Formats: sequence, C-alpha cells, structure tokens
Amino acid sequence: MKEKVELIKSSLDTDLDNIDNINTLNEVKAKYLGKKGMITELTSNMKELSIDERKEIGRISNELRTEVTNKLNSIQKELEEKAINEKLSNEKIDITLPATKLKVGTPNILEKVTEELEELLMSMGYDVVEGPEVEKDLYNFELLNLPKGHPARDAQDTFYIEGDTLLLRSQTSPVQIRTMLANEEKEPVRIICPGKTYRRDDDDATHSHQFSQMEGLLVDKNISLADLKGTFDVIAKKMFGETSKTRFRPSFYPFTEPSVEMDISCFNCGGDGCHICKGTGWITIGGAGVVHYNVLDNCGYDSNIYSGFAFGFGIERIAMLKYGITDIRTFYINDLRQNVNFDRKEA
Ligand code: DAH
Repeated sequence: MKEKVELIKSSLDTDLDNIDNINTLNEVKAKYLGKKGMITELTSNMKELSIDERKEIGRISNELRTEVTNKLNSIQKELEEKAINEKLSNEKIDITLPATKLKVGTPNILEKVTEELEELLMSMGYDVVEGPEVEKDLYNFELLNLPKGHPARDAQDTFYIEGDTLLLRSQTSPVQIRTMLANEEKEPVRIICPGKTYRRDDDDATHSHQFSQMEGLLVDKNISLADLKGTFDVIAKKMFGETSKTRFRPSFYPFTEPSVEMDISCFNCGGDGCHICKGTGWITIGGAGVVHYNVLDNCGYDSNIYSGFAFGFGIERIAMLKYGITDIRTFYINDLRQNVNFDRKEA
C-alpha cells in the first residue's frame, strides 16, 4: 500500500507540472480522482483489510484527494485567468479612434424640400436671395403691378401692420422687386427666393395663416415662355420623377403677362385620373408667367431690351404631394416623428 501511495505522490508532481491547458488538467483529474483513478483505487479493496488498516488507508486517501483537488483547483484558476488576460490583450480597444457620430434629430421636411429645390436651381445658375417678412406694401403689391384698390389684392387677404404701408408679406414676389431695384447696373437676374409668407386664412387641412413659398425670377435678353417651360420640365422631373410631364394652363397674375398655372402629370396614376389629381391626371404646383413690362419698368429695367419669366411654388404643397401628407398643419405641430422616414405613400 505504501508503495502505491509513493507511486501516486511521485507521478503526481510531474503530472501537475505538465498541465498547460484545460484538457491536460481534465486528464490528470481523471487519472487520480476519477472512478478508476489512482486515488480512488487505493480504497477499492477495503473489505479485505483490518479495521486499523482501513482507517489508515481512508485517512491517507482522503488527505491525498483533498491535496490533489486543491492543487487542481488552483491550477484551473490560473489557467482561466491566463485565458482571460490573453483575450483582453488580443482584443484591446483603441480608444484613440474617433467614435462614430450619432445623428441627432432629422431635417424638417419643408427644409428638405426647400434645399432640394435650391440645389437644383443653383446648379442651373440661380442665386438664393432672401427678403424680409415684414414688407412694404410698395414692394409686396404696388411695384408688382397691383396698385391700391386692384381687385387682385383681395385674393391675398393680407395682415397689415402699419396703416396701409407695412404688412406681413403675402407672397415672396416682393424679393423680385428688391433684387431688381438693388441692381444698379441693371444686369441680368437669375434668382430664387425661398421664405415664409402670411395670409389671413382660417387654418384647415390645406390652408395656414403662415406658409412657405419659393419665388423664381430670370431676367435677360430674349427670354420667353419657352424658357420657363424648359426650366419647369427639369424641376418637375427632379422633384417628381423622370416620367413627369408638364403643362401650362392660362391664368392671371398682375405681375406676369401672359400668366400660367404650372401642372405636372399626376405621379400617382401617371395621368389616368385618381383621387390625388381629382380625376384630372394633372396636379397644379405653382403659378408663373412672363414678367409684366410694368414690373420691369418699375424696377428700372427697360422692357424694350429685357424680358423675363417668374414663378412661385408653394413649398408645403410640393412637400405634401411628395410625401403623401394630407394636412398642412402636420408641418407645424412640432412632432418630431412627422419628419422621420417620410416616404412617398403609394395611394
Ligand atoms: N405670388 C403668387 C402667389 O402667391 C405666385 C406667383 C405666380 C409668383 C406667378 C410668380 C408668378 O412669380 O410669376 O399666388
């Protein structure tokens, strides 16, 4: 028996020294502590021994078992720590790398549509010009060929601020006047003017006392309605898709002659007629025309030399059509979700 114990002790030391991973650890565990392990076997033929011998063997084997178990546990702990440290050093995070920036918020839909129009028209050579929202009656109406008492003023029910001279602009067209007056050399003009406008409308699904427009003005020599048509074609295709068609319908604005309504073919039904185009196949997205000679002359541009075209889009209207928004108040209720993931709804 003693020999067996010595054998165990001597082989144990080398076996423990040779453990270098979990597999070899398990092998050693089985070799000594397993069902047929060397320590277990010490007590396998106890029946044949005397009581004293049994006690002695029992004590020795228990001591050995505890000793081996403790050693194996501590080796196991070392191995696990080593593995974790290796993992940590291999997976080191480089904290000097700049973090990915998270976008906070989304652009407002009206802002997005305005920017899209701006980018397109700027690529065609237009400058973006802004004007004041508190405007003179002179620029908002009179120099645009709408003298006091002109019936067409009624169509733009206006907020007046001081008597009949100062108002909240009812359209972005006064920026045309400001730009032409300010151009001392009377050089050609090519501008777009986005901005807020105001009318004394009751707010409902399609009207708001405050809304946004984008004005366009091109003045040069030999400009005709054909140039406007070409420009409008490009805008329609960019904003509503390559298959968009355009048409002009006769209309009236005091500052243009002739005046037109600008229609695009319905992007929803392609022109067959549906609820979006109210069965007509066409959708109106703005007014336009050839700049009235009175307007050019009012601003010091000789209408015998110069001609031009002008147009005005309602930004909300374009955004509503493009994104399937049915209520204009959606833009103003401050609900961030309204601006997230707006896809054009296929109706
Ligand atoms: N200012 C017009 C409106 O608010 C829109 C408009 C029509 C602008 C024709 C223009 C134009 O420049 O030529 O209803």
